[in-house]
Amino acid sequence: MTTSTPQAEFWRGEFGDAYTDRNAASAEQMQARIALWADILARTISGPPKTILEIGANLGVNLRALRQLSPARRLAVEPNDKARAVLVRDGVVAADDVRGGLASHIDFPDGVADLAFTSGVLIHIHPDHLPQSLKEIHRCANRWIGCIEYFSDKPEMIPYRGHEDRLFKRDFGGLWLDSFPDLRIVAYGFAWKRVTGLDNLTWWLFEKR
Ligand SMILES: C[S@@+](CC[C@H](N)C(=O)[O-])C[C@H]1O[C@@H](n2cnc3c(N)ncnc32)[C@H](O)[C@@H]1O
Repeated sequence: MTTSTPQAEFWRGEFGDAYTDRNAASAEQMQARIALWADILARTISGPPKTILEIGANLGVNLRALRQLSPARRLAVEPNDKARAVLVRDGVVAADDVRGGLASHIDFPDGVADLAFTSGVLIHIHPDHLPQSLKEIHRCANRWIGCIEYFSDKPEMIPYRGHEDRLFKRDFGGLWLDSFPDLRIVAYGFAWKRVTGLDNLTWWLFEKR
């Protein structure tokens, strides 16, 4: 069982703390996230999620947006202590509903959330640990799986704020479908920076059959 990787320690440590400090959920950022999630949630109309789990939530930009759009109970996994404290302090997630740890070892039971998702997190997991991480997210999702990440046609590592081996892009949607035959694609889209202010994010929504 791998509970520590160079990538995870990077996020648990000073880099993750500084990221959390500068990741203020500004009004513009929140507006853009709310619009993105309104679009994604609209696709779950046949069974709106009553519980939503974000893996790698940081201080909860997504969960704060979801709080405005859905009465669902919010759950979070986040390895950075400081970010977890902010999630609880700001009432984004109840203290009992937050876990430390990594996507590869999620301390929640099978099917705990109707919707489980990542946003800007799979890109920070070393490719060797992706299969176990997807397996855990899939295990925790009762019905819907969301994925909001940077897309690249071919797997590639790109330097991240001057660091090597900390950001890996690929076709994450394809990886999800190729890894789990029980998934069907419900919808996908692109949040173009010029229009949305979001960082050219590709999103996918899957449903377990
Ligand atoms: C770029 S931030 C994205 C935060 C948030 N999801 C968002 O969209 O604003 C990446 C977050 O994932 C967390 N993280 C990094 N590696 C992780 C892993 N293996 N499992 C779970 N979370 C991880 C980091 O601590 C950080 O809070």
